[in-house]
Amino acid sequence: MKKRILIIGACGQIGTELTVYLRNKFGKTKVIASDIREGDDALMASGPFEILDATDYNAVEEVVMRHEITDVYLMAAMLSATAEKFPMKGWNLNMDSLFHVLNLAKDKKIDKVFWPSSIAVFGPSTPKVDTPQRTVMEPSTVYGISKQTGERWCEYYYNRYGVDVRSVRYPGLISYKTLPGGGTTDYAVDIYHKALKHKKYICFLKAETTLPMMFMDDAIQATVSIMESESEKIKIRNSYNLSAISFNPKEITASIQKHIPEFTISYEPDFRQAIADSWPQSIDDSEAQTDWGWKSKISLDEMTKIMLDNLRDKY
Ligand SMILES: NC(=O)c1ccc[n+]([C@@H]2O[C@H](COP(=O)([O-])OP(=O)(O)OC[C@H]3O[C@@H](n4cnc5c(N)ncnc54)[C@H](O)[C@@H]3O)[C@@H](O)[C@H]2O)c1
Repeated sequence: MKKRILIIGACGQIGTELTVYLRNKFGKTKVIASDIREGDDALMASGPFEILDATDYNAVEEVVMRHEITDVYLMAAMLSATAEKFPMKGWNLNMDSLFHVLNLAKDKKIDKVFWPSSIAVFGPSTPKVDTPQRTVMEPSTVYGISKQTGERWCEYYYNRYGVDVRSVRYPGLISYKTLPGGGTTDYAVDIYHKALKHKKYICFLKAETTLPMMFMDDAIQATVSIMESESEKIKIRNSYNLSAISFNPKEITASIQKHIPEFTISYEPDFRQAIADSWPQSIDDSEAQTDWGWKSKISLDEMTKIMLDNLRDKY
């Protein structure tokens, strides 16, 4: 099999699990992990790894050519909350890395690109419930602006140069293996750790702030599924809406209390409240379902059980 995969940003929340999944699926020597820093011990021991700065075109090209890469998963980015603190850094990382990979595909040095977008492409003027695939998009964060711009460029490279780029708009992602990297939905991971450790949690969002979320296994399934679908099925080349579960801090607390009845939550909203208020509450992902057969599998209560079962030993 000719396929050889490069994951850029492999040590982050998604990249760590995606790397392991793809190595199990295609063989460990077929999947090169890379990041600007080393990852956890399990990731580093699981197969080939390169230190790689995604903003350095020559370095990315050198790794792509040396390993005869066919498919790139570009996971390196600065996330919503961190990018609000460092707007230009966030913009430069998110855009430069995308252009480098798109240009490698345009020059036929790679065959296929996965680049994740986000629900942050939507803004305060977007309809908040069952947000449609095509709707008003006026993002108010630098992260959202970078993702929306990225979507336009992905579609442009597909239409103009035939670049086979595929993308989904991830909701907030929840996992027990790796900590999240500075997003507005990070509370929904932290809350499980604090529930086990302290039996109480101070939330940086208000009780009723409903946001679209997804368990990591569903996100990995969606990612690999869109990349492995026949090209004709991928009709949207900017980015597909993706949906799984929507909940607010009060509801995830109730789900945790089914296992830890003494758990309590209090609320001290910070700057991330404004970001969350600008995002949808739920997403219509019917086009992903129709075009390439996407369907989420894991509910809030199932996710809570998996999270607590797997984190319990830590505390
Ligand atoms: N996690 C979520 O909830 C979520 C939601 C929507 C979209 N996304 C998108 O998914 C992608 C991956 O997100 P994540 O949660 O794994 O992020 P993360 O912050 O956990 O990981 C990003 C990784 O990129 C690496 N990185 C940073 N700068 C780099 C550089 N110059 N060169 C190479 N690597 C660099 C970091 O070291 C880190 O390991 C991002 O594009 C993000 O915007 C994530």
